[in-house]
Amino acid sequence: MAKPRDEDWYRTPLYYDIVFAGDEPREAQFLEALVERHAIGGGRKPRSKLRVLEPACGSGRLVAELARRGHLVTGFDLSADMLAFARERLDKAGLKARLFEARMEEFEAGERFDLAHCLVCTFKYLLDERSARANLEQVARALRPGGLYAIGIHLTQYEDRRRSRERWVARRGGTAVTCNIQGWPADRRTRLEDVRSRLRVVERGRVKTSETCWKFRAYDHTQFMRLVRSVPELELAAAYDFGYDIDRPRSLPDDQLDTVYVLRRRVGPARPR
Ligand SMILES: C[S@@+](CC[C@H](N)C(=O)[O-])C[C@H]1O[C@@H](n2cnc3c(N)ncnc32)[C@H](O)[C@@H]1O
Repeated sequence: MAKPRDEDWYRTPLYYDIVFAGDEPREAQFLEALVERHAIGGGRKPRSKLRVLEPACGSGRLVAELARRGHLVTGFDLSADMLAFARERLDKAGLKARLFEARMEEFEAGERFDLAHCLVCTFKYLLDERSARANLEQVARALRPGGLYAIGIHLTQYEDRRRSRERWVARRGGTAVTCNIQGWPADRRTRLEDVRSRLRVVERGRVKTSETCWKFRAYDHTQFMRLVRSVPELELAAAYDFGYDIDRPRSLPDDQLDTVYVLRRRVGPARPR
């Protein structure tokens, strides 16, 4: 078999979207419930008008779902291809949202958001402490006091030296996509982990394959909390797992790795550094 083409899978947003879209109503409902349960203040604004920010919004699956539910949504991403796909999705659905091209570690969103979110491990693309902290600081500035930042990441168990493997199969119209993702154990010193995704696409009888390799920054719970504590404007409000069940908050630390950290912008003066 021919070797898969080496390509950034975000250059082909449709294939990414076919594999990973589908769970948005549940995710959006969970995000709304987070605000209801953990945000502070904000007046008696009806739930249908949250101001929501999504750093690294990708193909816009959650931008569109939250806009459909009546929220005022802003999203940005560094990939022009992903943004073009997101804009087309909004246009086709007759929805409105503000989208722009920017990096998670350097952006200007300029509003007072009730909620920001960065799920599905996307935060791990910020490869060093400085860029991760820059993202937290800028999101904290963009949130209103009492507003929330939900970050979903898979935590690392450094002593586990096995590779991880995930396989996804999905179809939309005449296009079938199989996605195999493999992760290598994180290096404890550099805190980097190698990840590879292989796509196999069957479209109108033709088969295409491609491969993307990238690095993620690894966190265990202690490392993530150290990062959060380095940004005095933020505090930990709650934690959940990827089941997105608002009635099942966790008390950390525990032995689960899939973690949604719910950070809140402090009301009143920031904790001194
Ligand atoms: C796994 S996708 C997630 C997309 C979306 N948040 C979702 O839930 O479907 C990751 C996205 O992060 C974007 N990305 C990666 N590093 C980034 C950075 N430093 N700044 C902005 N976007 C970034 C990629 O272009 C891609 O669209």
